[in-house]
Amino acid sequence: CGIVGYIGTQGAIEILVSGLEKLEYRGYDSAGVATIVEGEIHSVRAKGKLYNLRTKLEKETNISQIGIGHTRWATHGKPEEYNAHPHRDNKGRFAVVQNGIVENYQELKQELISKGHEFISDTDTEVIPHLIAEYYNPESNDPFMDAVNKAVTRLDGAFAIGVLCADFPDELIVARQSAPLTIGFGQGEFFCASDVTALVHHTNTVLSLDNGEIARLTPLGVEIYDFTGKRLRKNPRTLDWSPVTVEKQGYRHFMLKEIHEQPSVVRTCLEAYINPDWHSQNSDEENPITLNLKPEIYEDLEHIQIVACGTSWHASLVGKYLLEQIAQIPTFVQYASEYRYAPSPMMRNTITIGVTQSGETADTIAALEMERQRRSSCDRTYQARILGITNRPESTLGGMVDQVINTYAGIEIGVAATKTFVAQVIAFYILALDLAGRRKTITPSRMEEILKGLLQLPTQIEQIIHSEEPKIRDLAHQFPDTKDFIFLGRGINFPIALEGALKLKEISYIHAEGYPAGEMKHGPIALLDAHVPVVAIAMGGSVYEKVISNAQEAKARDARLIGVLPQNHHEDMFQDTLIVPEVDEILSPILAVIPLQLLSYYIASMRGLDVDQPRNLAKSVTVE
Ligand code: G6P
Repeated sequence: CGIVGYIGTQGAIEILVSGLEKLEYRGYDSAGVATIVEGEIHSVRAKGKLYNLRTKLEKETNISQIGIGHTRWATHGKPEEYNAHPHRDNKGRFAVVQNGIVENYQELKQELISKGHEFISDTDTEVIPHLIAEYYNPESNDPFMDAVNKAVTRLDGAFAIGVLCADFPDELIVARQSAPLTIGFGQGEFFCASDVTALVHHTNTVLSLDNGEIARLTPLGVEIYDFTGKRLRKNPRTLDWSPVTVEKQGYRHFMLKEIHEQPSVVRTCLEAYINPDWHSQNSDEENPITLNLKPEIYEDLEHIQIVACGTSWHASLVGKYLLEQIAQIPTFVQYASEYRYAPSPMMRNTITIGVTQSGETADTIAALEMERQRRSSCDRTYQARILGITNRPESTLGGMVDQVINTYAGIEIGVAATKTFVAQVIAFYILALDLAGRRKTITPSRMEEILKGLLQLPTQIEQIIHSEEPKIRDLAHQFPDTKDFIFLGRGINFPIALEGALKLKEISYIHAEGYPAGEMKHGPIALLDAHVPVVAIAMGGSVYEKVISNAQEAKARDARLIGVLPQNHHEDMFQDTLIVPEVDEILSPILAVIPLQLLSYYIASMRGLDVDQPRNLAKSVTVE
């Protein structure tokens, strides 16, 4: 979900709705806004996309200069108007928007019902305005703030809220507990939002609240307190973002724009971390990688464990391959949502890495917090050493890890991750080579070979987009009724088979499975017939012949075969081939994934689907 708030001198409605448009990637099954008009809360909500809310709002003139807004990704209760935020108390004095989950809402609801409160939605959020109303004492010193403060200390879970009170038309109160919330500073106007994307058009002076903080926004300024009521002094920071990062710039979809951005994203990341003057001859002098992690992170290193979700988990699987094969460090990749409740026994001298494009995924953040917590009383060998790999160093992840490896991919808006995935994988090359340089696990000439190969990737990605995009656009028309796809890969390209399948599933709603090619005969082969296309990722190298044999097995069951192949490896068995430049096997995943991103993009867009905002998904999943 995404929340926004505004207080100042302009009409609030337009600012709220355009802010919500920027947050729509976080959830989009219903939306709503509340303002204060003539001393009363005025709320408008609509089911479905933001467009519906906008249409409703066009029918009214509302000049209120204060308001809150919300775009929802349903957790508790169906995506219906009565479940849409803002929620109110029975007297209609308070309006609340929330991003997160109130875990003890059942208990609170019962308590409030017994005190006479009536509930009309199925949501967890509705308890918040009721609780605030229950604590509201107009006689107290600071009634609105006191009531919100008392209420938030009763809530369990991870949440960020924005609250309006009809009696205080010049105050907007926001609070944060483990869900993101940033305040934007303008001239006589202040903003708040779940993500800076909603703020960059108005200001680049921002301040992110930390957990357990509550803030009062008035036209005169911002006051921040902790939940015990202690006033805090915090300084805003300046964002170096330009608003165009969150515009489509002529592309039909953000996803297509982000696919096309990949050459420059890879180039920027490589330039940030590779010393271009390094040659194997002067290898004794220094490491070619300028990652410069803190010395205690490298000390006696024995293991690496990685926690991530979704596409970031796939990038981590490629990372495991690189860290083990290049740097010879045993590496374990875990789903954050599993690991947080069933962590592996603690290993000594271990780096834990959280990988996330949003920097906000609740499970990933919680898994890292758990890891830090359980190692906090251990001796040095078991102490937590936590790294983050992200394109959003300013995120919650950025604030909680010992060090961030910035992938420099910038924000990604399309829900299906593309450029952030590729950039995460590049970050793993950098880390693996950095460690290999220090541990001398590869020869200087091999190091030079890999570095040279990496530096060619941006041009090679450009080549793939240039030569394969028109072909893939045509190919995409050939699957109008296809219901299932299988993606096969082996070795370092097995995670690319998973990623190819996930991309297709996410945006085209076609069932797709990614499998290690050698495992197909143990199950998925039963699904095969002429209606199930099989995409075989057969990049040159150690497993090339093996993948080709596995593809033959599919062909023998009448499957339509699509090959992702390096140049000069044409095989007649494939009905269609997606050709990528020939590269060292260790670099091949970066190239193999590009045609698969394009294939899923064009299949989904050919079906007329909402590529950037596929049903039921959200870009930033700040709930468990
Ligand atoms: C959501 C997004 C995916 C993403 C996953 C993990 O499901 O739709 O694209 O891979 O979250 O997100 P993260 O921000 O942690 O990489």
